[in-house]
Amino acid sequence: MAEHEIEVIDEALAHLDVGHGLPVVLLHAFPLSKAMWEAQVAALLGECRCIVPDLRGFGDSPTSGPYTMDQYADDVVALLDVLQIDKAVIGGLSMGGYVALAIWRRHRRRVRALILADTRASADSADAFARRTELIQVARTSGMDAVVEAQLPGLIGKSTREKQPDLIDRIRAAMVRTSVDGVVGALEAMRTRPDSTELLTRIDVPTLVVVGAEDAITPLKEARAMQRAISNSRLEVVPEAGHLSNVERPAAFNTALSDFVGSLLYN
Ligand code: MLT
Repeated sequence: MAEHEIEVIDEALAHLDVGHGLPVVLLHAFPLSKAMWEAQVAALLGECRCIVPDLRGFGDSPTSGPYTMDQYADDVVALLDVLQIDKAVIGGLSMGGYVALAIWRRHRRRVRALILADTRASADSADAFARRTELIQVARTSGMDAVVEAQLPGLIGKSTREKQPDLIDRIRAAMVRTSVDGVVGALEAMRTRPDSTELLTRIDVPTLVVVGAEDAITPLKEARAMQRAISNSRLEVVPEAGHLSNVERPAAFNTALSDFVGSLLYN
């Protein structure tokens, strides 16, 4: 597949670049930032170079548009260019997974392997599109507190709600820091993203599919379907975790992640 031309952005994405070894890019969920990967970076540091960007409009990255899934993908590849990294493992959770799939679609030569966590290949249904449109209105009229109240309950699994109330407060605090412009842009990008179901059958790099057992947004059923469609893939289910499986159960998530990365390093 031919690569598309990379649109150069005025300022590179804010990012963390730590460690040495196999380059691994980790792409965050909506509406969070690179900070959500802290535990995974700590686990991978010994053997990997971890590149963890704030996507356009999130964290410390520029907030100017355009906002599309393709643009997010091009931004990440532009960052790899700046860092002179030819190929990397590309991992993303939820919205980060949508971006990972867009990178595969547009820049597959740059992808050493894929990690698709708590995400889906399909485009938004008509209902999902309508919910995003409502949330855009909520963001514009009522601000981030209202967005967080609408979004947060679905992100967290039942076990985390029962057993880790402090973690929920930390996630809420991280979400509130996101700008309204970034949130509106991401909702626009997500509701117009293309369907990638067909693309799955053309993925020929090793792929790890991970899902929280209690994920209500992108449930196990979706993860199984993705894994079955990708030839060289494995599925790991994180017990007692919801949609933010890497944050809710970092140790279990990291075991799956380290096993997968180890299989790339030593095979
Ligand atoms: C996310 O966690 O990134 C979002 O839940 C993705 C989505 O809303 O589709």
